[in-house]
This record gives sequence, structure tokens and C-alpha cells, in this order.
Amino acid sequence: MLVMALAAAPVEGQQAPARTPVPAMERLVDSLLALMTLEERLGQLTQLSGQPSDSGPRVRAEDEARIRAGRVGSFLGIYGAAYTRRLQRIAVQGSRLKIPLLFAYDVIHGFRTIFPVPLAEAASWDPAAVERSARVASVEATGHGLHWTFAPMVDIARDPRWGRIVEGAGEDPYLGAALAAARVRGFQGTDLAAPNTMLATAKHFAAYGAAEGGRDYNTVDLSPQTLHGIYMRPFQAAAAAGVGSVMASFNEVNGVPMHANADLINGVLRGRWGWDGVVVSDWNGIQELMPHGVAASRAEAGALGLHAGVDVDMVSEIYGKDVSAAVRSGQVTQHELNEAVRRVLQAKYRVGLFQDPYRYSDVEREREVTLTADHRAAARDVARRSIVLLKNQGKVLPLSKSSKTIAVIGTLAADAGSALGSWSADGRKEEAVSVLDGIRRALPSAQVLYARGAEVEGTDTSGFAEAVRVARRADAVILVLGERREMSGEANNRASIELPGMQEELAKRVQAAGRPVVVALMNGRPLAIPWLDQHIPAILETWYLGTEMGYAVADVIFGDYNPGGKLPVTFPRATGQIPLYYNHKNTGRPSGEKGNTSKYLDVPWTPLYPFGHGLSYTTFTYSTPQLSRRSMRATDTLVIQMVVTNTGQRAGDEVVQLYLRDDVASVTRPVKELRGFRRVTLRPREHVTVTFTLRADDLAFYDRRMNRVVEPGGFTVFVGGGSSEVKEARFEVTTGAQLGDARPR
Ligand code: NOJ
Repeated sequence: MLVMALAAAPVEGQQAPARTPVPAMERLVDSLLALMTLEERLGQLTQLSGQPSDSGPRVRAEDEARIRAGRVGSFLGIYGAAYTRRLQRIAVQGSRLKIPLLFAYDVIHGFRTIFPVPLAEAASWDPAAVERSARVASVEATGHGLHWTFAPMVDIARDPRWGRIVEGAGEDPYLGAALAAARVRGFQGTDLAAPNTMLATAKHFAAYGAAEGGRDYNTVDLSPQTLHGIYMRPFQAAAAAGVGSVMASFNEVNGVPMHANADLINGVLRGRWGWDGVVVSDWNGIQELMPHGVAASRAEAGALGLHAGVDVDMVSEIYGKDVSAAVRSGQVTQHELNEAVRRVLQAKYRVGLFQDPYRYSDVEREREVTLTADHRAAARDVARRSIVLLKNQGKVLPLSKSSKTIAVIGTLAADAGSALGSWSADGRKEEAVSVLDGIRRALPSAQVLYARGAEVEGTDTSGFAEAVRVARRADAVILVLGERREMSGEANNRASIELPGMQEELAKRVQAAGRPVVVALMNGRPLAIPWLDQHIPAILETWYLGTEMGYAVADVIFGDYNPGGKLPVTFPRATGQIPLYYNHKNTGRPSGEKGNTSKYLDVPWTPLYPFGHGLSYTTFTYSTPQLSRRSMRATDTLVIQMVVTNTGQRAGDEVVQLYLRDDVASVTRPVKELRGFRRVTLRPREHVTVTFTLRADDLAFYDRRMNRVVEPGGFTVFVGGGSSEVKEARFEVTTGAQLGDARPR
């Protein structure tokens, strides 16, 4: 028997680890600051972007002169060992103070070897896998001259209309916090100065995912309890994991645009949490303070950004061109300016550029680390771990490898570009394996028939007849449905999350052909698919899984890999149910199907697939949770154990989940909240005792006065393989406690 001890992952009450003072760094930074002109200081805060060209991204002709004049501190979207070396040489040999440049890019889920989109990786519930993915991305990206990635996106998303839900870890702050920390570890490693680690960026600070109506960039209006208790928690975890940078978000929060939000950036992030990294604006975010309506001029916008603590101005060039008068007049203080410059120089020091500005720009290493067999193998493994089996009636899956004829239907099946998902850095679709190719490779001696069926969008049904013909000839049908990759990601919101175009109609025709049908979904957000759920026996959520997508999907469909992923986000039945998330409040009239309860007349109030849901080709049972005590003081710890047994015929993975409810409190509390999870692998008939430890931090919440407190009273613990498949136990807290907001554990 395996015994696993697991402390609930640290989330609340964390403080950024105090960095050991580095006197050499401070001496260097002080001496540079003393020498720098106003223009050179503003230059360090200026980030310019690269332009696409036939030979890859390049700076504009005039930018080389700006590097020489010390008027630029970093570039976004420039990479390549030889080219970054060339630009770096201009900075360190041609500029007065020889300060190296930082090269940044959106390396979100892989650089050349593309891994699953972050929402998919979150479905693995496997921090080690997520860390590995970020590690590989970092190795490849730094091999191409990059020092800084604009990832991880740690925004909580409760609205699947919002296109950027694809880039985060879903709806839950606890899972989000654990994966935020894992990604930071993956990118930054243990030594930021090593040539294969890079500065990570927790973004978008803050509450970017709470955009009204799911419309990207839209207004955010949140109670302080929800802002700090839900949306801030993954940022706090990233800060505690030592993330080197944070990006401000485009949105306002309660009336104050984040690029001008001194209370949250200088106040909470730096002040209360004690975090000391560099804050970068989002693209043109400083300039956008004008349309937000809080600045009348570029100069005013720049002053607001610097007051708020936004150090780096991404592309608006306001800091470089429009704030010098405000500094000279004292409207922006020397101290404010110098602190921003100090943080940029510290970041350069921490990644090792003052020791060796060329250490990331090594042509030989670039060749060695690109798309290696190891990287592809890791991408395939993480991809398989990210697949969620939503439904498997009559054990249709796995399909037999001895099938003679398999039909693969759907445009997305052959779309290797969509397999890469949104943000694919230097990923190339010709190197990616489509679902169709993966299935062909898995069944070399079978006949694999392909029909397009329907486009993802539009009203064309001309492919239906061929799809039905092909389905009739097959032993089984694999129908690939969903969204093209351009249908999620930045600004790509949808007012309806139902299957687009004629795809549901196609599914009806194919299903009527009478062969066993498996649907594989490709999508960057939850989809509302009640018809599929009712009529298609087997449904796999395969997201966008990256370069190795086709192999991973085939591994699962033909049983070489037993799926073990779980949903990191709720799947509604209909768009009209949004927002729908598992950690909701009970209300005074809890939801039910009848009477004056919180419900709908036309759709059940429940989700189609709840948060944490996911099946396996085997089955698991849970014992009732055993508690180390029935009553505890807030300062005690509570140990919870349960036995999980594989009761089926195959080895498989289960994600054991622990939820908690504070039954009665001075403010309303969610019906349940995730407080621990562990992905375990069990052979047939094997069992494991899983142990979770709860502490005051796990029981705490923000009260009416925004104190983080534990209150005496009853709590309910739930354990199981999903948020709605749970066994319960109860305990009492006898004495309360007030916790610091940023108390280290
Ligand atoms: C805008 C996006 O919001 C942000 O996430 C990204 O890092 C920047 N553009 C730079 O590409």
C-alpha cells in the first residue's frame, strides 16, 4: 500500500520570500543610477516591440540608434541567438553606460515545442507536469536569446465567454495558485542567472478575468472580499514563489484602471505582500489611461503610471517621450522614477546580464535545444495528462486497435494549426500532429477514412452526405468538433458558447448513421453541448494540446493511455447560465428544481459537467474521510485521510480532491472550496491512503472589515473525484483567530 502525505498547497497568508540582499547588485545599481541622465533612466523603462520580417522579428531601423543612445531598456517579440547577440553588442559596446537589453516574449505554453494551452494543462491537476512544461519552454526560449516571458497568466475566469479563459488555469483560486507557483518554478528554476531559466510574469494584475459580460478589457466591479479572496490568490502564490515580474491589466477595478492603481500595485502587491519585482504595463496600457478617462494627456497618463508603480512602459513610449517635464517639475518624484529604474536594473542583474550579456545568445545552444525528441516526448505526455473523459456510456472507449475501418470526421481533425492553440510563440503548424495524422499513425494497417463534414463556422452543409457515407462504412466514428484556435484568446470572446456553425447538425447526421461515435472536442473554453451529452455515448475533452496533439489523442482513444484529467472549470448547459461556478454562495433560497428557489424555468440550474469532473477507463472508490480530531483550535492542524481504491481492470490515474465548507460564519461563505488535491496512479485493485493537512490558512476568509479571520463553529469536509461526487465529514473549530494578510506559513 502506498501512503501519501500531502500538505494542502500553500495559498493564503503567504508573503513573498525576503530575498537575500545582494550587496554587489545594490552597489552596481546605485553606481549606475548616479551616472544616468534623466533620458537614460526613462530609456530603461521603455520597451519597444519587434516587427515581423522575412528573416524573423526585427527592430525598426531607427531603434538601433535608440539603443546606442540608451533610450531603450527592453524589447518585446525579438528573438534568435545571433540577432539578439547583435543588438546586445550595440547596447554593451555602443551605448554610454553599457547597460544590456532585456529580450521579452509571450512564451505561454511552449516556444518551438508547443505544449497544451494553459487551460488544458490545468485539467491535468498535475503541478509537476505543468512545471515540466514551463521548464521546456524556458530551455527553448532562452536558447533563442530570450530572458523574460509574459507568463503565467494567473487570472481566475468564471465566464467562459471571455476568450482569454484559454490562457489561465480556470475558475478556482486554489488550483490556480498551485499551478501559478508551478509555472513560476518551471520558468525561473532555482537560479535565474542560469542560461536556461527566464524571468516569469504573473499577469494580468488584477481581476482581468472578471470583465463584465465576458468582453475582454471590460469594466470590473468586485466586492473587496471577492477581489482579495478569489482573484488575488494566484498572484499571491506567484509572488510567494518569487516571480520576477508582474504585468498590469487593461481593465479598471472598482473605478480605477490598473495602470493607475497605486493602491493595488504599490499598496497591496509591493507593500502588503512585500514583493520586490518589476511591474510591466500591458501593451499600450499607459496610453489607454486616456480612453479610460482618468488622464487628459500622455504626460498625465505617464505620471499616473509611475505613481502607481508601473515600471516598464510597453510600447506606448510615453515614459520615454512625454514624462520628462513632469519629472523636472517634481510632479513625478526622483524617488519614484529611480525606484522604477532600480527594479529594471535589478531584473537585468538577476538574470545575469551584468555578468555576461551574451549568455543567452548562443547559436550552438539554440540548435541543440530546439524541438528535441525529449521535448516532444514531454509535450506528448503532458498532452495525454490534460485530456478529460467527459462521458463513456457502454464503455465505447477505448476503441479497439484491431478495428478495420475508422472514420474521422470534422475540419478540426485535420487542422494542425488549431492543435497549437492561441499564442504559439515560434511553434509551427507543419511540425504539429493533427488528430487525423495521429490516428493514422496509431493504426497503420487499418483503413482510416476522412471526411470534412462541416466547417467550424458558417452554414455550409455540402459535406454532410460524404460524412454520412464515410460513417456508414466504418467500425467506429471519431468526430472532432469545437472551435478554431482563433475563437479564443485575446479579444476573441463569444456571446454564445454553444457549438458554432453546423457542427451539431453534422453530429446528428453522423449519429443517425448508427455506428459507435466518439466525439473529441477541440476548444479553448467550456462549451455548452447538451445535445452531444444526451446522444453521443463517448465524449473526450481534448482542448488544444500542442505539437503532439494527434499522438496524445490517439493514445487515449485506443487505450494506450488511460485518461485521468479533470475539469478545471464548470461546463454549463447553456450560455444563459453564466456565470456558473462550483464555489458559489448558497443564497437564502438554495437552488432546486421546484418552487421559489434560485433556478431557471427553461434549463436546470446545475452544470452539464461540474468542476473537477473527469472519468477513467477504470473505476475508483473512496472510503469515508477519517479526521485526526473532531474539534480543533484555529492554531491546530487537522489531518484528513481516506483510502482510494482502483476497483476496475486497468491501471489509471485519479485526482483526489478535498473541499471545505464553513457552515456558519459572519459573512456568507461558498458552498464548498477546494483545499487540497493529489493526482495518484493505481494499478488494478491497488489502494492508497491519501493524507491532507488543514491549517488556519485553509479555514480563513475576509470578514466584513477585510480582516482575514478563522471563526469558531462547524465545518464540513468533502472528498471525492469531483466537486459533486463527494463523501463528507464534519469538525468544529473551538477558538477563532485573526491572521495577517501576508503571514508566511
Ligand atoms: C497584450 C496581452 O494582454 C498580454 O498578455 C501580452 O503579454 C501583451 N499583449 C504582449 O504581447
